[in-house]
Amino acid sequence: MPLLWVLLLLQWSIPRVLPCPPLCTCTSAQAAQEPRSVLCSDPRILTVPTNVPINTVKLRLERTQISRLPRAAFYNLSELRFLWLTYSTLRSVHPSSFVNLKTLRELRLDGNQLTTFPWEGLRDTPRLQILDLHNNRLSSLPAHAALSLANITFLDLSSNRLTLLPAELLDLWFPLPGQQQSTVQRRVLGLHDNPWQCDCQISMVASLSVSLGSPVVLVDPVLICVRSVGQGGALLMPVQWSRCMRPSVQPAATRVVSPLGSNVILRCEATGYPTPTLSWVKAAAYSDCCQQEISPDADQLPKSLQSFMQGSPRVGVRWSVISLNGLSYNDAGEYRCQAKNMAGISEAPIKLRIVGLSRTNRPPKKPPPSPKQPPQKSNRRPNQLSPLDSIKRPNAAK
Ligand SMILES: *[C@@H]1O[C@H](CO)[C@@H](O)[C@H](O)[C@H]1NC(C)=O
Ligand SMILES: *[C@@H]1O[C@H](CO)[C@@H](O)[C@H](O)[C@H]1NC(C)=O
Repeated sequence: MPLLWVLLLLQWSIPRVLPCPPLCTCTSAQAAQEPRSVLCSDPRILTVPTNVPINTVKLRLERTQISRLPRAAFYNLSELRFLWLTYSTLRSVHPSSFVNLKTLRELRLDGNQLTTFPWEGLRDTPRLQILDLHNNRLSSLPAHAALSLANITFLDLSSNRLTLLPAELLDLWFPLPGQQQSTVQRRVLGLHDNPWQCDCQISMVASLSVSLGSPVVLVDPVLICVRSVGQGGALLMPVQWSRCMRPSVQPAATRVVSPLGSNVILRCEATGYPTPTLSWVKAAAYSDCCQQEISPDADQLPKSLQSFMQGSPRVGVRWSVISLNGLSYNDAGEYRCQAKNMAGISEAPIKLRIVGLSRTNRPPKKPPPSPKQPPQKSNRRPNQLSPLDSIKRPNAAK
């Protein structure tokens, strides 16, 4: 039946006439596999068209006068893979604008007037790889943006008003050995044409991105940093990079065993530039022993610990000690000493195990604390501590 075949083929190859939003062009599927594409480019378009065919794969809204993206703006378009809303007058994006865009790969919002972007809204687009925000008015990049950008391999933030890059993004883009997942994500980033401040992060991006095997390639490697508003910009020079160093943490001991009721001091030291700040977190309790001894209302973990001492003997070095007095089984667990500076974060764990104290091997009483000490019952000045310093004092009330 050749005639029937010809008719069938004709029917397949003729574009099917399907509803298309006004002022838009819909390219219908020529063959079943070919994606459907909708282009709306008209300054008379003021809002996102509502009746876009639900099997649309590529939606381009260009040179429109759309100024805001409302909640669930593309809810019906669950097959959408490419969404361009470019060179329009977009000023605000609702954090739930992208709800239901489970297969979205590419989001281009370049050439708009966005001053902020709802990074958390990208939780609705887990397959997103390309995010183009260049040529907007973004002035800040929050630390939590790093959580939403884990899977993004192309990010263009060029030609905005960004001044500071959060350290969290640096950690994401240049993971430390041991910090990263099995495979390092390679990325292309556009950061140029922003009034960056000459700080560690942006200097590190500039220097690391040109290093051999860098996981990051910059669209334009020339980053200009501005020292203060109104002053001329300066190209980042290698001499500025050299002083910038991520923290490295050294605990005095990684395992400490101490008797019940005794006092213990945990110490760590960090180096880095700028001089890192230190903090302590109790990350885990021991669960394999003495369950009955641990009160049911024990603290929620991880918990940050407030009462610690610290000092900086010279630029680039900081030590910290935390003293735990009258140890109970509740104190056993993992403590983490965290060091942070603009160039990054690092931490070191210290495991504290508590052993039962028998009457016969109690150590002799030590002299009382010196008056210079804070109200804790530490016996020595922290910078005189030996590497593994567990000071045992009996009868510490608990
Ligand atoms: C989604 O589809 C429903 C039903 O077809 C329609 O009423 C609604 O306006 C559509 N929503 C959008 C945002 O296009
Ligand atoms: C990254 O991709 C994984 C796997 O597809 C997904 O489960 C996860 O939600 C994505 N993360 C983000 C922040 O989109």
